[in-house]
Amino acid sequence: MAEDKKSLQTLLTTTDYRPPEGFAAFPSAIHHASTVLFKDVAALRARNWQDKNSYTYGLHGTPTTFTLEARLAEIEGGSDCLLAPSGLAAIAMVDLALLKTGDDLLVPDNVYNPNRELANWLQKDFGITARFYDPLIGDGIADLIQPNTKLVWVEAPGSVSMEVPDVPAICRAAKARGVPVALDNTWSAGLALRAFEHGVDIVMQALTKYHSGGSDVLMGAVITRDKALLRKLEMAHMRLGMGVSADDTYLVLRGLPTMKLRFDAHDAAARKVAAWLKARPEISKVLHPAFEGCPGHEVWKRDFSGAGGLFSVLFDPKYAEEQTDRFIDSLQLFKIGYSWGGANSLAVPYRIAQMRSRWEGAGQLVRLNIGLEDADDLIADLQQALTKLA
Ligand SMILES: Cc1ncc(COP(=O)(O)O)c(C=O)c1O
Repeated sequence: MAEDKKSLQTLLTTTDYRPPEGFAAFPSAIHHASTVLFKDVAALRARNWQDKNSYTYGLHGTPTTFTLEARLAEIEGGSDCLLAPSGLAAIAMVDLALLKTGDDLLVPDNVYNPNRELANWLQKDFGITARFYDPLIGDGIADLIQPNTKLVWVEAPGSVSMEVPDVPAICRAAKARGVPVALDNTWSAGLALRAFEHGVDIVMQALTKYHSGGSDVLMGAVITRDKALLRKLEMAHMRLGMGVSADDTYLVLRGLPTMKLRFDAHDAAARKVAAWLKARPEISKVLHPAFEGCPGHEVWKRDFSGAGGLFSVLFDPKYAEEQTDRFIDSLQLFKIGYSWGGANSLAVPYRIAQMRSRWEGAGQLVRLNIGLEDADDLIADLQQALTKLA
């Protein structure tokens, strides 16, 4: 149609203009799309939504989301990745891909609480049994595996109480019985624990944390190198409509080049703060995997190359909850809020005994996310807040 024949309204909705070829830059382009265009009906009929070399619909992938998926698979050491709108959505995708009525699910007792909540829901309303195992069980998991056990979750370490599980031992026992192991590898960002080398079948990452690094994105990823598992995950991903926003995907891509530098900086500062806290009389235990006394510390030394910024402390049991709440309220640089992996330090109290089937620790638990502020300033903040405990 000649240009001058088009009405103004049509000109406002469509154009034949194409920008020149040959543009190159470091950032990935941000492709927004629900509808993806096909050049003809034959192309539409020929395309398959599972094929990552072509496009069918925005929900199944764009160059932006495929780029992030490919990069995450590469970074984690897997072959394939699927994005989800949050870390929790990624966990749900794994459960719904692999479990059906009559199946059995094993989840560590120290798991991130919404994962536990989901497992309990599957048990209550979907006829799947969910059992919570001691995170330090190691190869003892073999005794819990039943013929109907179809999935073992692992979190390394548990992101509140910080026990470090023996991932290789759990994977060996599960593999011998043909049961896949899914690991929530968010604490290590996939940098400090090379999960696939330890036998894990599926890695889940909450990209919300270190990958984004900005406390401004919610996104999750599931990564595998097992094509049979991938097929099941892809079906769940499609059936559940697991779409992610192009802009958020771009923000995660933007975070990748600095992720290890940030992770190492969080790690160094967190160890300095944790060492300072360990010497304080108000603190009865520092639950940091790199510190002796943290359950699973020896396993951490064997399997991990770093620790990032997240750890917890137990206060001397003589301090009541109102006192440790006052300590948290008195912090100035540390803010009060959930999540971690961002630039700002955070403190959160947990009523840990209520979250677990078994908890033998004593004293109030406070979890700290050490951000990218100067560690000495954070220590000064903790020091002034500790004086408010009494
Ligand atoms: C260990 C762990 N896994 C998964 C998630 C879920 O991530 P999201 O907040 O993106 O759902 C979180 C979030 O706090 C987490 O701490």
